[in-house]
Amino acid sequence: MSKPSILVARAIFPKVLDKLAQHFNVEANADDRDWAPHELARRLQGKVGALTTGGQRIDAALLATCPQLCIVANMAVGYNNFDLDAMTAAGVQGTNTPDVLTETTADFGFSLLMAAARRITESEHFLRGGRWTQWRYDMFAGAEIHGSRLGIIGMGRIGQGIARRGAHGFGMEVQYHNRSRLPDALEAECKARYVSKDELLRTSDHVVLVLPYTPEAHHTIGARELALMQPTATLVNIARGGIVDDVALAAALRERRIAAAGLDVFEGEPRVHPDLLALHNVVLTPHIASATVRTRQAMANLAADNLIAFFDGRGALTPVNHPPLLRRQESA
Ligand code: GLV
Repeated sequence: MSKPSILVARAIFPKVLDKLAQHFNVEANADDRDWAPHELARRLQGKVGALTTGGQRIDAALLATCPQLCIVANMAVGYNNFDLDAMTAAGVQGTNTPDVLTETTADFGFSLLMAAARRITESEHFLRGGRWTQWRYDMFAGAEIHGSRLGIIGMGRIGQGIARRGAHGFGMEVQYHNRSRLPDALEAECKARYVSKDELLRTSDHVVLVLPYTPEAHHTIGARELALMQPTATLVNIARGGIVDDVALAAALRERRIAAAGLDVFEGEPRVHPDLLALHNVVLTPHIASATVRTRQAMANLAADNLIAFFDGRGALTPVNHPPLLRRQESA
């Protein structure tokens, strides 16, 4: 029996490609080009599965051109590149990579918070620029982390990881806002108190965003929300671009209406708004919150294992939708 054909939309670890090649005819993207939608659609012709990395839009228009496609495995925990309703309606399975990146991403969120609040990159640029000529009592004095009040918006697995780090590691008072409240036992374990979004913004020393990007989450933080925050506060976004209004944030940072920000994700990335690039009180990183070698390997392996399990007939390991009728797997 011939192997099913799949497309791997971006470069991934060679060992993971080798594993996939044992089960599938694999078309890879050795040059790691970011294919335009029409190019992606062209390459998906005749493919029953795809491994995507979060940057490839899978929507009704694409699915209509690829009637053989049965499963798209995202190498990311977020899947806002999927039009999930369209995939479900078309009988296409979607999967993501939860759990394997939780602690690594929480580590990074905390790093970004520390770097922004303690002005680490700003002071490094100062030093590298040869401007450090003497000690000064208030030089790069930032905001306290330990014992301060941490607000987390989005209290899924990664949010809980950040809460634990703050409460148990840094003696922070943790408050959170989420679509739904956590069970009491989990709140107690995370030492986290549920509050409204506005109360969180008004009363937190540091605000970390870890919510999924949905149409309702667009500009969760805009000019109104920034105006509620304290002038000494830090804002960290490790969730998705579009959750923060980047132009409004740049204005708030420029006018010192909030003290600092740490951003790993941006509206329209990889482009970063020039207003943000012009500021010193923001730490900017290129969407790397899950980027340790071990975690990225685990993510790639889980995405591959989803494809393998699906075509073995075992079902997807970490599905994000449940189409009532799946496209026929032998349609290739
Ligand atoms: C990264 O942003 C992810 O969703 O895994």
